[in-house]
Amino acid sequence: MSPLTITRTLPVDATAAALRADVADGLSRTPKQLPPKWFYDARGSELFEEITRLPEYYPTRAEREILLTRSAHVAAATGARTLVELGSGSSDKTRHLIGALTGLHTYLPIDVSESALTAAGEALLAEHPALTVHALVADFQQGIALPTTPGPRLLAFLGGTLGNLLPEERAAFLRSVHAMLAPGDALLLGTDLVKDESTLVTAYDDAQGVTAAFNKNVLHVINRELDGDFDPEDFDHVALWNAEQEWIEMRLRARTDLTAKIPAVDLAVSFTQGEEVRTEVSAKFREDGVRAELAAAGLVLSQWWTDSAERFALSLSFRV
Ligand code: SAH
Ligand code: AVI
Repeated sequence: MSPLTITRTLPVDATAAALRADVADGLSRTPKQLPPKWFYDARGSELFEEITRLPEYYPTRAEREILLTRSAHVAAATGARTLVELGSGSSDKTRHLIGALTGLHTYLPIDVSESALTAAGEALLAEHPALTVHALVADFQQGIALPTTPGPRLLAFLGGTLGNLLPEERAAFLRSVHAMLAPGDALLLGTDLVKDESTLVTAYDDAQGVTAAFNKNVLHVINRELDGDFDPEDFDHVALWNAEQEWIEMRLRARTDLTAKIPAVDLAVSFTQGEEVRTEVSAKFREDGVRAELAAAGLVLSQWWTDSAERFALSLSFRV
């Protein structure tokens, strides 16, 4: 079995600097906002895995259903020898794809969460000892230089994580995906679909409060990394459907007037009672919209598959 290689593409202090910049900027705005990538320290990654097992959170099960039925088609259509996965997390569903890609030589999982990459990489190597697994700790919004590996290349972006980017960020991200692919290479993209509001809101506001804990985890990250003094219990978890934008928004709403100090960015942030900070958007998609966004980035949609309940879609597109 070859050892797991982990490459940190950014110096450790680059991550700290990016967090400081995002917190200083986002909490000085009106309305306040924070980017969702800061949820995912080791605890946040664990909480996300717990979310995927909740009865209310259907996307993971729906996407797994599609992967189980369509991975053989993806393998035949792409002949991929390298699988790159962005925001790979636990790589759990990816197993179905890896099992089907008979000619696969290298798996390159990429994530900001080093703890998730280590656990996932070790589990995969135990199952596929001949596979080369090279994990990259990197921000997929920063433009990633991939190591040279055998083609064709298949890039997977699963779970609906595309929806956590704002529209202009999505466009830039898809252009960077195009730049990572050679003509004939493919993108396998998971997108959650527009559906009735109550199913959506319930998926982001579960009865056990796991999503609430995940949402508040960003405050723990700020406290630990930037010496902040937020009391996460001063905030309520809010999940709402924005029908105009067709996205779920997660917010944290202050229960009282309060001021939090964040010495590492020299900031005292005041909230009035009821004031909210938006911590995540989770956009929901339609087939035409996905096709158009892909086309704008030079990617041609070839297959569109949904689960049997039509809650979630997996699309296969190619760089021409
Ligand atoms: N693909 C997995 C995990 C989805 S959770 C699934 O389908 O279940 C989203 C993952 O993306 C997390 O592991 C998180 O750490 C990672 N992530 C979020 N923003 C990121 C960014 N900007 N760059 C790299 N990884 C990111
Ligand atoms: C990772 N991402 C696709 C999840 C989502 O559904 O938007 C993150 C999440 N947020 C709350 N629950 C899950």
